[in-house]
Amino acid sequence: MLTVALPKGRLLEPLGALAEAGGLPLAAALRAAGRALVVEVGDLRVLLLKDADVPVYVAQGVAEVGVAGLDQVLERNADVLRLMRVPFGHCRLCLIAADGSRPAEEGGGLVIASKYPRLAAELAARRGHQATVIPLAGSVELAARLGLADAVVDLVETGRTLRENGLHPVDEWLRVAPYLIANRAAFHVRRDEIRALGRTLGGAL
Ligand code: PRP
Repeated sequence: MLTVALPKGRLLEPLGALAEAGGLPLAAALRAAGRALVVEVGDLRVLLLKDADVPVYVAQGVAEVGVAGLDQVLERNADVLRLMRVPFGHCRLCLIAADGSRPAEEGGGLVIASKYPRLAAELAARRGHQATVIPLAGSVELAARLGLADAVVDLVETGRTLRENGLHPVDEWLRVAPYLIANRAAFHVRRDEIRALGRTLGGAL
């Protein structure tokens, strides 16, 4: 059996639909799973994980493959193979500020709140900002709105969260997409099975 790590967040539903279209009854299995965190679908054992944990399971070889955003792969500094992009969930990692505020133009230090403390610090340094990063777990946009931080580094997909919370993107720092990722050693040994999964998900690896 191939062990596949999938993110429980907003990618799971479209992944289920993509797999169904490729002939793998993943969506049906997920519906039947209830609160189970491990689901068997055909020859696959599917682990349902927090998005940020997918690269860790794959890098450590507990799962041979997984689907994870580039943001999570880089944040975890995970040594995994990126095999192919998944055809949805493309978004931008942006520096975000409250409407009326232009923090990056004011010079000096920048206090940034983010779910991606490592990535935010690295990208801020590359752009010449002296940043202090406050790690948060979610709803990070509030930090800029309420003054916990000068700015936020977070994903923007449709832009709706920003619009509805009085915020705007100051700068785009990274284009982000979900990838089918694989453990390096497992890919050498189980390449055919992993390629077959890639084809099911709509790509030729
Ligand atoms: C992500 C991201 C933004 C939002 C952006 O959050 O952190 O908050 O989606 O999407 P939009 O531009 O389409 O509005 P997610 O839904 O993953 O929840 P979280 O903040 O709890 O991590």
